[in-house]
Amino acid sequence: MTSTVRVELGDRSYPIVIGPGLLDSPRHYEPWLRGRQAVLVASATVSGLHGPGVERALQPSCSRYLRIVVPDGEAQKCWETLDRLHGELIAWGADRRTVLLALGGGVIGDLVGFAAATFQRGVDFIQIPTTLLAQVDSSVGGKTAINHALGKNLIGAFHQPIAVLSDTETLNTLPDRELAAGLAEVIKYGIIHDSAFFAWMEAHLHELLRRDAAALTFAIRRSCEIKAEIVAQDEREHGRRALLNLGHTFGHAIESLTGYGAWLHGEAVAAGTVLASTLAHRMGRLSSDDLGRITRLLEQAGLPVRPPSLPLDGWLTAMGRDKKNEGGRITLILPEGIGAASVNREVPANTLEALLSGR
Ligand code: NAD
Ligand code: GLY
Repeated sequence: MTSTVRVELGDRSYPIVIGPGLLDSPRHYEPWLRGRQAVLVASATVSGLHGPGVERALQPSCSRYLRIVVPDGEAQKCWETLDRLHGELIAWGADRRTVLLALGGGVIGDLVGFAAATFQRGVDFIQIPTTLLAQVDSSVGGKTAINHALGKNLIGAFHQPIAVLSDTETLNTLPDRELAAGLAEVIKYGIIHDSAFFAWMEAHLHELLRRDAAALTFAIRRSCEIKAEIVAQDEREHGRRALLNLGHTFGHAIESLTGYGAWLHGEAVAAGTVLASTLAHRMGRLSSDDLGRITRLLEQAGLPVRPPSLPLDGWLTAMGRDKKNEGGRITLILPEGIGAASVNREVPANTLEALLSGR
């Protein structure tokens, strides 16, 4: 059964449609593509799995159609691939009414979203997320970006999609490691916002890991509800939206310092979440019981709970480039128990440095 969560942003509001069998169904494309040109951009693996089905379903609605395939991997969130997309759009004759469709995980969503934000000063795009991570997080909220060699997601724009189509059946082919990476972001919502959801995950983790459809659908829907609520309140991250970055300042540093792709984004976020929780515990804001519950749930999900060994100056340089920082101060999201979190700009340097040095 299909359900819909709405992201309420005035005239830029949009639906997140969640359910099985969406990709192959023409009626899910028709309202958005009616008579318009459409360009489907898919990652290589997903193009092979779902490209033909999506193509058959969207072609009756659109006037003209192109598919572009991008190699798999985080390294594609770069200027060269962005430039290639722009070049193909121009050569094919895309115009301002052309709709881009991003079929794949968060890499494709972020890349195509940024291409849509920048092509001819902004064209419409639809997110068709096919990883758990993309279905619960990256396809929602309009953050689009590419990476820079000096830091993660540093070049980007806010550009909301006109619709998100989350086909839960696509998760059947997702490798276990990618499924676990998505669970890191699901667990994040429980920690920052919803203790009952966190407790539900503790009780139902085995069902999520064996891809029980009802459990996964519930987790995706609840995650989208939480993200939609936060984005509606603070689209441009002037305040509360930063909470969605729990574990990410550490995580982004891990991703950039280890070379994009060695650690999956969700894995880096998991290790980063344990670092943030340990820091909160040392600062007297999180009980040892809650620190244990967070670490255990991430570990049981198959995620790393310890960071790689990295030099302290590397950590501090990478974390110093995070977008949340202000006035040269590292900004960190810290859990305050399970179900609440806060933005912190006053973390004692010696406490942070001891943590990053493994002490
Ligand atoms: P990904 O996009 O690299 O996808 C993972 C891999 O799985 C890819 O090789 C992909 O081709 C393959 N794949 C995708 N769907 C599949 C399927 N159904 N079956 C088999 N294989 C499939 O990784 P991801 O974890 O989805 O996304 C990570 C990216 O998302 C990072 O760049 C991160 O920065 C970004 N992100 C963005 C936001 C945001 O708000 N914009 C939020 C969280 C993460
Ligand atoms: N993934 C963090 C955000 O969308 O704000």
